[in-house]
Amino acid sequence: MAVNKAIFPVAGLGTRFLPATKAQPKEMLPVVDKPLIQYAVEEAYAAGIREMIFVTGRHKRPIEDHFDMTFELEVALEKASKHELLDVVRSVKPDDMECIYVRQAQALGLGHAVLCAQRLVGNEPFAVLLADDLMVGKPPVLRQMVDQFDEWRVSLLAVQEVPAEQTSRYGIVAGTQVNENLMDVSRIVEKPAPADAPSRLGVAGRYILTPGVFHEIAAQARGVGGEIQLTDGIAGLLRREKVFAYRYDGKRYDCGSKEGFLQANVELALTHPHLGPGFREYLKTVAV
Ligand code: G1P
Repeated sequence: MAVNKAIFPVAGLGTRFLPATKAQPKEMLPVVDKPLIQYAVEEAYAAGIREMIFVTGRHKRPIEDHFDMTFELEVALEKASKHELLDVVRSVKPDDMECIYVRQAQALGLGHAVLCAQRLVGNEPFAVLLADDLMVGKPPVLRQMVDQFDEWRVSLLAVQEVPAEQTSRYGIVAGTQVNENLMDVSRIVEKPAPADAPSRLGVAGRYILTPGVFHEIAAQARGVGGEIQLTDGIAGLLRREKVFAYRYDGKRYDCGSKEGFLQANVELALTHPHLGPGFREYLKTVAV
């Protein structure tokens, strides 16, 4: 069965970005000229996914508005013959893309957020994308993963090597190598201290999971931080099914941190077709 659905957990409070996120969802923070969530949705779309499931919470209305039709704006742009801008606005939600919203009433963790989408996903494989992790890859990282899924038909976690002192920020995996880019995962631990980490391979915010994971998440006690962790659900899943870790080809910006967010803005501005050349010249005048 093909991967047709993607879950975007977007109910988080965004406390790491206060005060910017006091009254606005962190997923709406723009990198250059697009909100973070749009990058993630475009990545899923490029992977062939057409059903986008947002797990939202209070104060997340701007996300729904962003993927809705903006009638007055479209009429105004049409009247003013601003066709290029009209295309920009309309391309946010292509006609063949469906957006569905489900609320996570309490922020009980990433595993709980995924569980909130269970009924909408049903008995199919699905993707999970964390918009905080802005991924740049050619082909896009989730596309790479869907291609791997089509070949291997097992759950897949995007992984990258992380600095030894940062293991406590990630789900960390260990296992046996299948080929250069794939590992058959035998262990996954959420945010271990460096001394307890089974490896330095950290999970980035892209997953393709089989529906068996829902049952496993539901069976987990609260984990790290008192939260229902997706990682713990995956740890349950790999006792029953194969789970592969995939070393993606691309770059990840941790836009959940201010440093990563700033780096993404600078690097994506430099590669932006219109802004890039001028911005490069500007940076030369301020670089220290
Ligand atoms: C979540 C996951 C973690 C993963 C990370 C990737 O953590 O729980 O396993 O490595 O995303 O960004 P968070 O960053 O939401 O604390």
